Amino acid sequence: MGTKTMTAFHAIFLGAPGAGKGTQAKKLAGVSGCLHISTGDMLREHRSQGTELGCQAQGYMDEGKLVPDGLMVEMVVERIARPDAADAWILDGFPRTGEQALALDRAVDDSAGGITHAVFFDVPHGSLIDRLTGRRTCSQCGAIWHIKFKPTSRDEICDDCEGALVHRSDDNEAVVEQRLSAYRTQTEPVLDYYRDRGLFCEVNADQAPDAVFEDLGKVMLKEVG
Ligand code: AP5
Repeated sequence: MGTKTMTAFHAIFLGAPGAGKGTQAKKLAGVSGCLHISTGDMLREHRSQGTELGCQAQGYMDEGKLVPDGLMVEMVVERIARPDAADAWILDGFPRTGEQALALDRAVDDSAGGITHAVFFDVPHGSLIDRLTGRRTCSQCGAIWHIKFKPTSRDEICDDCEGALVHRSDDNEAVVEQRLSAYRTQTEPVLDYYRDRGLFCEVNADQAPDAVFEDLGKVMLKEVG
């Protein structure tokens, strides 16, 4: 992937749970040097630190439901106002409701460069259960692995940093079904919001991760609209 237009983008990554948003966002951030903001990771961090927000979010996350808009919007607006978000960033996992999309527009208005790309990672829902139930995440560096599609060379040990791998508590089949249902009813309608605004671009995420990344490069480098 080239980096010639990789300086001033504000991209949002959309797609079902397990579509590969986090995998691709980490890689793009590594190549371009942009900031990767994952709302799921931020919430898990709050949970592990036992903050008030973490405690409020816990029950929703455990059940595979969306955390209420008010909590999410406050957390994201505060995050993108920090100095390290002054340049390029990827927002991974936000917005997931119409209310969140409107709040994001208010926070990232044209004077801040606006949203430049709404990238949708398209995967048939039949593949997602396998992707999620087999996912393993490094407890130390956050690298994302998969027991079948991206295995580590040693069981349960991260190849990048030798940290212990963990199986996310919401990556079991019952909770995954609930997450997919929340995605269909609350998040899918948001895609049209960005289609209507000419910011929507689509990547076929039902192929090998490197091929997905190639396609992502093409959509990030071309004018959307
Ligand atoms: P979050 O952590 O954002 O979970 P998610 O959207 O369900 O997304 P995932 O992290 O599960 O999937 P991904 O698309 O990043 O896939 P990944 O790259 O890891 O949110 C968790 C919870 O927090 C939510 O349920 C909700 O409660 C709350 N929350 C977060 N944001 C919120 C918001 N805005 N509003 C309200 N609530 C919010 O890949 C998955 C697996 O597939 C990995 O094992 C990977 O190795 C593998 N894989 C990736 N790409 C490929 C490929 N091309 N081929 C084969 N395998 C692949």
